[in-house]
Amino acid sequence: MTDTLQPSARDAGNESGVPIISGVRQQRVLRTAIPGPRSQQLQERKTAAVAAGVGVTLPVYIAAAGGGILVDVDGNQLIDFGSGIAVTTVGNAAPRVVDGVRDQVDRFTHTCFMVTPYEGYLQVCEALNRLTPGNHDKRSMLVNSGAEAVENAVKIARRYTGRDAVAVFDHAYHGRTNLTMAMTAKNMPYKDGFGPFAGEIYRVPMSYPFREPAPIDGAGAAARALSLLDKQVGANRLAAVVVEPIQGEGGFVVPAPGFLPAVAAWCRANHVLFVADEIQSGFARTGDMFACDHEGVVPDLVTTAKGIAGGLPLAGVTGRSEIMDSVHSGGLGGTYGGNPVACAAALGAIAMIEQDDLVGAARRIEAVLRPRLEALAARHPEIGDVRGRGAMLAIEIVAPGTTTPDAARTSRVSAACHAAGLVTLTCGTYGNVLRFLPPLVIPESLLVEGIELLEQALGS
Ligand SMILES: Cc1ncc(COP(=O)(O)O)c(C=O)c1O
Repeated sequence: MTDTLQPSARDAGNESGVPIISGVRQQRVLRTAIPGPRSQQLQERKTAAVAAGVGVTLPVYIAAAGGGILVDVDGNQLIDFGSGIAVTTVGNAAPRVVDGVRDQVDRFTHTCFMVTPYEGYLQVCEALNRLTPGNHDKRSMLVNSGAEAVENAVKIARRYTGRDAVAVFDHAYHGRTNLTMAMTAKNMPYKDGFGPFAGEIYRVPMSYPFREPAPIDGAGAAARALSLLDKQVGANRLAAVVVEPIQGEGGFVVPAPGFLPAVAAWCRANHVLFVADEIQSGFARTGDMFACDHEGVVPDLVTTAKGIAGGLPLAGVTGRSEIMDSVHSGGLGGTYGGNPVACAAALGAIAMIEQDDLVGAARRIEAVLRPRLEALAARHPEIGDVRGRGAMLAIEIVAPGTTTPDAARTSRVSAACHAAGLVTLTCGTYGNVLRFLPPLVIPESLLVEGIELLEQALGS
């Protein structure tokens, strides 16, 4: 990976050797304590104006962002290892996204695709049909959020199969709407007090290599889950198995090799739809265009969001044409789904991913981060596992020499990273996973500095 990124009109004027991306110098700068005084004032207003249930990980208010840097209202520049939860894959305010959005808002901002359509929606669907796994004939539909995409995938699967039951996995995260809360595994904070939940959702064990009580390979872990589905639900009642090929909020759990192909093969044999939720893992994040590509798994339906549109709200469902087209006209849609401005952003983001080889960039990020994380794990016995793929990497923090989760230490380490100007996120069923999701355009120098800050935080 080089430290000099593709120049654009807005990335000029770099005399010091420090790259400038989207007008932001790619340099960590601490001018105040984190959060600074202006952020603290804004946080007081937040407490007075915003519902308490809308939590904030790091109350640093952002004024600008670009590449791998977030600039706050106090003038601090933080290294971004979060990408707004895997969204700004192409970087924040990425020039081609901004140009597309500018051009679109000048022309029109909304018509409702279901009323009077526009070409941008078609172009995004064509791109999704081309880029998602498999060469079969596909159709897509667009919505606003990941949860909405998952809801629609379930609707389509039920309509096509005429069956009700849906299988999901331990540690899964699929969203916060009523149906997707039922599909999400973790109670706090996502479900507690929000029931009753939608019915006909059945949860089975995931392949979670670090936490298996006894060694079990991917095929074995799949057989364990599928036999439960067979006996407790009945394959003939199942519309779909919905799986994140690498789990996101649940802890960046990478199933053992062979798990996903075995689940997909069972689905095929039983006429159950295999639905890949690629909302966090998709769009170059894992060093393949989609995480399913890694094992050549071809889902019947794929849900996408986050990295698709460079920060604007857009999500999609893509699938085999006979499945997608089984729904009656008017059965799918929504007022804002596939908004023209979000579509323009997506076309800019997808062009960047393809033209700038961001799949390769994700692999190069892994080549920088993984050996450093593994070296840290060798020095810090509280790091029980280093896992993930591409620019979707994580460490699991435990009591040394055990698999007992240490959520308190994980929070302390993450807070120390924040204080040092490194934005990290935690995740995991047990709250003990630190995840790293840098934008794919981040300069290598910031990756290396981020790991140094992480090491200091581990030692603090
Ligand atoms: C795998 C997965 N599915 C679904 C969702 C829900 O997406 P959204 O927050 O856009 O509704 C997320 C969000 O983190 C996710 O990671």
